[in-house]
Parts: sequence; C-alpha cells; structure tokens
Amino acid sequence: MSYRIAKGVFDILPKDAEDWRQSHLWQYLESQVRMICDVYGYREVRTPLFESTDLFTRSIGTDTDIVSKEMYTFQDKGNRSLTLRPEGTAPVMRAFIEKNLDQKGPIHKLFYLNPMFRYERQQAGRYRQHHQFGVEAIGSGSPYQDVEVIQLLWKFYERLGLKNLVLHINSIGDVEARKHFREALKSYLRPYLNDLSPESQDRFETNPLRILDSKNEGDRKLLTDAPSIHDSLSPESKEHFEHVCALLKEEGIPFNFNLHLVRGLDYYNNTVFEITSDELGAQNSLGGGGRYDGLIKQLGGPDLPAFGFGAGIERIIQVMLAQKVPLPAFPSPLLFIIPLGEEAQKRCFQITSELRAHNLSVEMDFSGKKLKNAMRYADSIAARYVAVIGENELASEKIEIKEMVSGNVKSLPLNRLVDELQKNA
Ligand code: HAM
Repeated sequence: MSYRIAKGVFDILPKDAEDWRQSHLWQYLESQVRMICDVYGYREVRTPLFESTDLFTRSIGTDTDIVSKEMYTFQDKGNRSLTLRPEGTAPVMRAFIEKNLDQKGPIHKLFYLNPMFRYERQQAGRYRQHHQFGVEAIGSGSPYQDVEVIQLLWKFYERLGLKNLVLHINSIGDVEARKHFREALKSYLRPYLNDLSPESQDRFETNPLRILDSKNEGDRKLLTDAPSIHDSLSPESKEHFEHVCALLKEEGIPFNFNLHLVRGLDYYNNTVFEITSDELGAQNSLGGGGRYDGLIKQLGGPDLPAFGFGAGIERIIQVMLAQKVPLPAFPSPLLFIIPLGEEAQKRCFQITSELRAHNLSVEMDFSGKKLKNAMRYADSIAARYVAVIGENELASEKIEIKEMVSGNVKSLPLNRLVDELQKNA
C-alpha cells in the first residue's frame, strides 16, 4: 500500500523539489519576516491551529466564501464544533480579548507566521493549506497606523527585491455607508441581473459588494458605470482616507486608487488594501488587509480600532523565483571528513563532534565507501573543504584540507583545525 499526500497541500523539503517548496527558501523568508517585524516593533503571537467554529463565522461573516464553502470544520470527541484556522485575524483578536491585553498597554503590535486552511478549488496559487505572514496593530485609529502597516509590507517586498508590484487601495467606509451603497449598487445592477455571471448572481442578495471584484469580463463591463462607494462615505471616512493617501504619497509609496477593491471578509471598514503581482496569473494577490475597527467589540472585547494584513508565503516565494531575485544558496557543510579505516572512523567522529561544538558545520562519511565515491559525494553536497584522515594523519597529528572549488590543499596540525575553519567560515 502506498500513501500519497492529500489534495491541495504540499511538502516543504530540502532541495528535493527544485522550486518554491525548498525549505531553505522558507527559512530565509521567515528570517526576513522576523527582521522587519523587529524593526517596526511587532511582536510574535502564536495561536492554536483550531478554534471554535463560531469565532470564524461571527468575524469573517456567514455570507463570505470562506465561511460558506471553505472551512475545515469538525466535531471533536466532546461534540464541540471546531474549525482549522482559515485566517489569522480572528484567533489573534480572541487571544487579545481572552487575555485582557488591552489592560497591558494602549497599543499592541503583533505578527504571526502561520499555516491557514481553506477548502479551495484546486488551481495555481490556491492551496488548501497555505501560510501567511500577518500583522495586526490594535489600539490606534490614526491614519499613521494604516500607513505604518501598509509601508511595512511594501518595504518587506522591496527588501526581498520584488519588482513591478501594485498597491491597490480603497475605502469602504463604515457600516452605514456600506448599507447605503449596497442598496445603490443593487438598484444599479438589478436590470442586468440575468447578464451577470452565475457567481455574481449568487452574490446579488447575499454579498453584492463582492460583485465589484468579480474577475469575469462581462461583469466588469457591466460595472463600468456602477455607483461609487465614495459617494456614500461619511465626512470622517473621507478625511481619514485622504489623509492615508497623502501620507503614502509623502512616503513615496505609489498606489492605485481602486474603487472595486472590497476584500472577501466582512470585518473591514474604511481603508482596505491589496498588493498584487502580474507574475501570479489569476491568483495575483500577494497580500492584503485593512482597518477593522468594530471586530474586537463584536467579539465581546473593548471597543478598539485595529489595522492589519495577511500575506501568502507561497505566492511571495513564487514571485521571488519568477523575478530571479537574489536568493540564499542551498546550505552546505564547511568541512566533509572522510576517515580511512575503522580506527580513523572512531577518531574522526570525535573530531567532528569537537568541531560542531564550536558551531562549525561539519559532516563525515559513515559509509566506508571508496575514496573516489566519498569525494564525489562531498562534491554533490557542495562541501567547501574535504579532509581525508587515515592512520598516517592520526599518528603525525597533521592533516590536509582541500578546498573543493580551487583544488588548493593546505597542510596543518590537527590542533589548528578549529582556528583555520573559524577563520574561513
Ligand atoms: P486574505 O486576503 O483572505 O486575508 O488572505 C491574505 C493573503 O493570503 C492573500 O493575499 C494571499 O496572498 C494569501 N492566500 C489566501 N488564500 C490563499 C490560498 N488558498 N492559497 C495561497 N495563498 C492564499 C486574510 O486572511 C486577512 N486575515 C488579512 C488581514 C489581517 N486583514 C487584517 N488583518
């Protein structure tokens, strides 16, 4: 019997897959995430893989695709309905409220690097387990907070060397504005209802705003003269949005004011944004988020404003590879030791342990293969130096290390090996 991986998910392996699923690329990206979060003062939060189902239905919204079609929901043995986390915001807010973090300071800036689970239709760029780098800034309603978070993501992509990205930004106002706009949009679309795509027809009653970001060409044409949500915005929402746009300009972050950007989760208000790349085809969103001032209160916590984003790690690595940005090389050992004979094997194992205790990356051959094959293996793992150690070397306490790329050989006393490797590490 052979087992195969489940549909829509993937393994992350060293080297094995010559693409975005190589573990050293993930480690690199994760280290970059930690670095930028440190610079911006965001601290890590880790929440469980599953939560009560109603946490997600309440926060994301019952009429969204995520809740209506994509959640991995199950009963546990105590008959509780639990759901594998489809997104990161609701769990972080649950933890924030449960632990009364609001009493521990006025502003909380949190980040996470987590797997998320959505039962998606299989297609390029859409996975049933994907990973997000997300940040959530709780406690400030200032436009500066919006721009700090947007800038963090924009600079993150810049640091990675990504090019040709587009920042889309919009304001969807407050609850009142959206109620008003929903009706205006429905009145506009009603005469064309039969011409809309089946998906948009479904959304007409349940979630008409989502029709705005339909990818269907026919829908897009019909939407050309649709009313604008900006006609429904309150003066406060307008002012907030204008301030955000002005700050982005001052910071030199180019943006595309996209009236059709509404986002697929219900908790947003005012500023929403998304960063896209042409490199990705239909699933072109590299990350997105916005303001969600009512969510914490809605979940039973204090009335605090918040702003955040989630960014898909798979898609980021895919764009990095497509754009050939500088990437870290596959990790390789500094030294590969080949013992000749049983006595040498014993001593070489001790030497290897000693070198590793100095944090030097050293491997040794246990297989006893022929010298030529052992050298070939050292080459295949891109070892920088190789030392062949037999009885003579052990008796004289003198060894030779060969630099594989240049072929240069250096002779040195065994007790100088740590220094020599540290000098060249
Ligand atoms: P979202 O737009 O649903 O937002 O997801 C954020 C990002 O995760 C997307 O832009 C995309 O890069 C990636 N992503 C989503 N679904 C998949 C998938 N099936 N396969 C691969 N990548 C995917 C949220 O989840 C919000 N919680 C973001 C947020 C945080 N808003 C405020 N704070």
